[in-house]
Amino acid sequence: MTKVLYIKGNPKGTEQSYSLRLGQDFIAAYQAAHPDAVVSELDLYEDHIPLIDADVMTGWGKLAAQSELSHHEASKVQRLGELVDQFLAHDIIVIAAPMWNFGYPPMVKAYIDAVSVAGKTFTYTEKGPVGLVKDKKAVIIEARGGQYSGTPASAVVHSQTHLSAVLGFLGITEISTVLAEGLNLDPSKAEDIYAAASSRGKQIAASLGA
Ligand SMILES: Cc1cc2nc3c(=O)[nH]c(=O)nc-3n(C[C@H](O)[C@H](O)[C@H](O)COP(=O)(O)O)c2cc1C
Repeated sequence: MTKVLYIKGNPKGTEQSYSLRLGQDFIAAYQAAHPDAVVSELDLYEDHIPLIDADVMTGWGKLAAQSELSHHEASKVQRLGELVDQFLAHDIIVIAAPMWNFGYPPMVKAYIDAVSVAGKTFTYTEKGPVGLVKDKKAVIIEARGGQYSGTPASAVVHSQTHLSAVLGFLGITEISTVLAEGLNLDPSKAEDIYAAASSRGKQIAASLGA
């Protein structure tokens, strides 16, 4: 039984968001092709995703020193642990998010920080860092207002490229990407761009395997 974690990285409602509509389409197509799959949802703007702040830093320090954490420190550190455990417990990670200022919305970065944990998802060795996340696949779904692929502007993309780099660093080698670009360039073309990206996503969903 394949476990899919669908991560929503956009504060908008699904109907108002191209990235979330694409995410929803992908999940529906994956479930149609793999009826036994179990999908869990994590909404980075509704569910609690602690930032790595002063409480977390001091909490980690106290854990290392085996001293007692404050209530705030303990609850944030515990929640971060739950998030990395949830990440590790799924076979396919699907993340849908928009491009914001050439990167992703800040809660996506907060999630990246939550699951990039030395000793759990990667480790340092004498030969350099090694990803510990094996036998997992990822799908990155992104909506962009402008057009970057195939243009000199691709140099400023720090969204999908950053997330792919982090997931690769953690050990995930099979990463598929669904991009909808140029959505804000000509409003009359946006639905066609979305439909083409949705169709690419559905093809990936059908061929991804369990
Ligand atoms: C705060 C904000 C920042 C944005 N920054 C960019 C950007 O840097 N590059 C770009 O191409 N589009 C940018 N956009 C446009 C969105 O990427 C575009 O509207 C996309 O469709 C949003 O995805 P969504 O429909 O899933 O919300 C930005 C939109 C917002 C709200």
